[in-house]
Amino acid sequence: MKIRINDLLDEINDFSADTLENVEAFRIKFLGSKGLLKQLFTEFKDVEPSLKKEIGQSLNNLRNSATEKINSLKNSLENNIQVEHNYGDLTKPEEPIELGSMHPISIVKNQIIDIFSRIGFTVSEGPEIEDDWHNFTALNLPEYHPARDMQDTFFIEKDPDILLRTHTSSVQVRYMEKNKPPIRTISPGRVFRNEDISARAHCIFHQVEGLYIDTDVSFADLKQALLYFTKEMFGKSKIRLRPSYFPFTEPSAEVDIYWGLETETDYKITKGTGWLEIMGCGMVDPNVLKNANIDPDVYSGYAFGMGIERIAMLLYQIPDIRMFYENDIRFLKQFKSVI
Ligand code: PHE
Repeated sequence: MKIRINDLLDEINDFSADTLENVEAFRIKFLGSKGLLKQLFTEFKDVEPSLKKEIGQSLNNLRNSATEKINSLKNSLENNIQVEHNYGDLTKPEEPIELGSMHPISIVKNQIIDIFSRIGFTVSEGPEIEDDWHNFTALNLPEYHPARDMQDTFFIEKDPDILLRTHTSSVQVRYMEKNKPPIRTISPGRVFRNEDISARAHCIFHQVEGLYIDTDVSFADLKQALLYFTKEMFGKSKIRLRPSYFPFTEPSAEVDIYWGLETETDYKITKGTGWLEIMGCGMVDPNVLKNANIDPDVYSGYAFGMGIERIAMLLYQIPDIRMFYENDIRFLKQFKSVI
């Protein structure tokens, strides 16, 4: 009998079940009213009195082992079933999803695009790696022209020259080559200049340049467009045009906006004058039109170009251009509410 008890004990220890039905069958086999334990206890009556104590203990032990095994298997199977069906409270509001924020350069770029698209400008884009023709020669900057030095260039290959575009005027050349006037387009994009990096200058920055070509386009049209833009962008429309030089426009001008002298910062950023330079512009040089197969006797046009970083620095009072590219999350987070 001792051997049978030990064998059954092994059977109990080795038993495992993957369904509750199996556990129940096991229970009936061991603890049921006609089960093994019932039989053993019946046989126990005939055990020799000297062995009764020991075998009685073994029997009790066997019954406890069976009961424990059944309970623990039941428990774990029932819990598993619960986990399978635990979808949680489906009506509970979700944890809010962390939204990122738009980069200030994108915010300002989109604002500029929005303002000009309201007066009929479309957006055009072009390659960042350019050839000499589109970045320089077609823009009235032939080889050895001294004005090429105005924009220090990163060259990729020499003869023929392949370079990183120094302005998005190159996109406008491409646009003129492919489209007939009337043309109204703005070209936002990244540009590259071989300049020392400082708080005010970077070797990579962004521009939006605009081009308008039609019959009878005059400097007065340019000025109206500039007034409209400054009013929409800055809420200020007092501007002045200072004569300047760009090879691709004639006459050329630099646009200053009257920022005012209300606060200490105003004094600082305008160097005490109240005026701030925001962009370059002018009437498209007839040579540029000719280079793009547009007849300068029939058509005229204006062009303008501005740096997005500069505009963003003015709008958000950002003191150092390098902050745009560091991607410090504490800086970027501040623009969350602006979009
Ligand atoms: N391309 C000029 C620059 O990058 C800006 C400009 C564009 C000036 C169009 C006049 C007309 O500095």
